[in-house]
Amino acid sequence: MNIYENKVIDESRQGEVLVMDKPVGEGKKMFLESYGCAMNFSDSEIVASILADKGYSSTTDFHEADLILLNTCAIRDNAEQRVRGRLKEYNIAKRKNPKLMIGVLGCMAERLKSKLLEEEKIVDIVVGPDAYRDLPNLIESVEGGQKAVNVLLSLEETYADISPVRLDSNGVTAFISITRGCDNMCSFCVVPFTRGRERSRDPESIVNEAKNLFEQGYREVTLLGQNVDSYLWANGKAKKELSDDERGQAFTFANLLESVANVSPDLRVRFSTSNPQDMTDDVLHMIAKHENICNYVHLPVQSGNTEMLTRMNRGYSREKYLERIAAINSIIPGAGISTDIITGFCGETEQEYADTLSLMSEVKFDFAYMFAYSERPGTMAEKKYKDDVPEALKKTRLQTVIALQQKHSAERTKQGVGKVHRVLVEGVSKKSDERLYGRNSQNTVVVFPRQNFKKGDYVNVLAKECTLATLIGEVV
Ligand code: 5AD
Ligand code: SF4
Repeated sequence: MNIYENKVIDESRQGEVLVMDKPVGEGKKMFLESYGCAMNFSDSEIVASILADKGYSSTTDFHEADLILLNTCAIRDNAEQRVRGRLKEYNIAKRKNPKLMIGVLGCMAERLKSKLLEEEKIVDIVVGPDAYRDLPNLIESVEGGQKAVNVLLSLEETYADISPVRLDSNGVTAFISITRGCDNMCSFCVVPFTRGRERSRDPESIVNEAKNLFEQGYREVTLLGQNVDSYLWANGKAKKELSDDERGQAFTFANLLESVANVSPDLRVRFSTSNPQDMTDDVLHMIAKHENICNYVHLPVQSGNTEMLTRMNRGYSREKYLERIAAINSIIPGAGISTDIITGFCGETEQEYADTLSLMSEVKFDFAYMFAYSERPGTMAEKKYKDDVPEALKKTRLQTVIALQQKHSAERTKQGVGKVHRVLVEGVSKKSDERLYGRNSQNTVVVFPRQNFKKGDYVNVLAKECTLATLIGEVV
């Protein structure tokens, strides 16, 4: 799973809408909607917890809300346009109920700051990803007749002590944030500006969260970070302040994976996103060592051409990426591998684009998230390079990349037919009440007859046939 994946996915994977489904508290009603990545979804669970503490209850119908919160994404322009469209719909509700408060949270709030209040007149509150603790105060200001903004980014905030309210949950799988922010500065990416500097969360709070989830019946956790491999804990000290000695003794991502895996052999562990320049063999050996750490790595490549990767400031070459793929395949044979790809980044030549296609054919990813480049204001690419690939060409290249990936996904899925897969049951199949679905360790969806099995069970399924991305079989 990619951290930019959520349960409801559209073609560009932006604009997933996750609405709080369980009423909490008795007080005023909030309607909380999340767009974008799993990190946003996870943040919304923190926001829900903060407001539930203040007595807010929730609703799934924004027409009956006292407070609408929209957790937004700024990664591509189309994500922002979708949010603007949504605000127009809320405007109608606000005309009927002038007391209705509307808050914009997340990356778009951070990117546009108070400018958002001028651009979108109906917005009352603008809150960046590090300022959610301030929400109750901001709401009070709005109730007192003022507009309210807090977009301060923090070097420390990890919300470690806040116990998230699980939203729209299947009761089996959950996200746990382990780092916030990103220091990588890929030239196309707005995340380092909207989510700030990278910081790691206290491992004890992470393991405790995993234990609590397990006790509540959850059977899978996904550890989330923009770059999980750079996770490092040295009693809260910032990475740059560490001496070589301290750094050598600090608690790494591999250590964290092991601690979470040790919560219970029946708790599966996933993580996202890995980074080619930071993913060590230690992490891969840890995955191989523990049965309950899933054999699946999401390793974004972005491009298959080294010069392009240099312009993207990715910190690795084509060869280094392929070397990491070889390491995964040799240390965790049969692992699922997925990636992210961008077409039409600044100056992309026919040859550079062809190198992306050839890398895809060399690796044969199980799955990929693919995007046409969208220039983001304030990024290094916007300052340094010309967005010179025509939109139509970006899109044609994207279509070719998608078609090639579909072929690879189909081939990879087919390789699972005839094999037995250990599947964690997540629920009833959308297509038929008579079938359950879950995922195998490699993250492929597996569907099988319901019988007497239920959510949270582990079952062994012999795959008999498949569609493009789903295995279909019977419990053995
Ligand atoms: N344009 C297109 N895609 C982008 N991504 C990040 N920034 C941009 C952008 N400006 C993609 C990358 C990243 C994923 C989360 O989103 O592929 O890995
Ligand atoms: Fe953006 Fe690169 Fe950080 Fe991912 S690693 S969030 S693409 S800057």
